[in-house]
Amino acid sequence: MDDADQPKGELVIQTIAMPKDTNPNGDIFGGWLTSQMDLGSSILAAKIAQARVVTVAMEGMSFLEPVRVGDTVACYAWVERIGRTSIVIPVEVWVRRYMHGKQIRVTRGVFTHVAIDDSGKPIPVKRNQPLMDTN
Ligand SMILES: CC(C)(COP(=O)(O)OP(=O)(O)OC[C@H]1O[C@@H](n2cnc3c(N)ncnc32)[C@H](O)[C@@H]1OP(=O)(O)O)[C@@H](O)C(=O)NCCC(=O)NCCS
Repeated sequence: MDDADQPKGELVIQTIAMPKDTNPNGDIFGGWLTSQMDLGSSILAAKIAQARVVTVAMEGMSFLEPVRVGDTVACYAWVERIGRTSIVIPVEVWVRRYMHGKQIRVTRGVFTHVAIDDSGKPIPVKRNQPLMDTN
């Protein structure tokens, strides 16, 4: 098994795909999955920034495999870049199929969050965290 078969980064959110999150085909909505990724990456961004954060961009979303009801859905994230006020966080979603052991990657995307003050204005992020070596 090589690295591509294994999640990398930090487990930032884990949940179970439920029937209320499906489309008429019975598969899970991409929008539900995207919101889990947004939540997960914002948890990591807020931890790094130690401040309120907002999502300013979502890029490169790829839905690779369907997610099904009952799957355990896990978002893994890592910090790719810290700018002056922004933090760029790639996120991968891996699922464990209902009653099966193997984890597979189903979605990936890159989220950019901005640290803000109480009035919603960008504030500098302190660069005191090492970035993850993904090589
Ligand atoms: C995020 C927000 C505070 C940025 O305000 P702004 O006045 O545009 O601030 P700036 O132009 O100084 O940009 C702030 C940072 O965001 C980055 N940024 C802005 N737009 C971006 C985009 N489309 N993609 C990636 N990064 C972006 C800038 O490069 C800058 O990063 P840096 O400081 O690390 O160099 C403002 O756009 C906002 O409130 N947006 C709505 C956020 C929101 O509600 N999200 C939830 C959507 S439901």
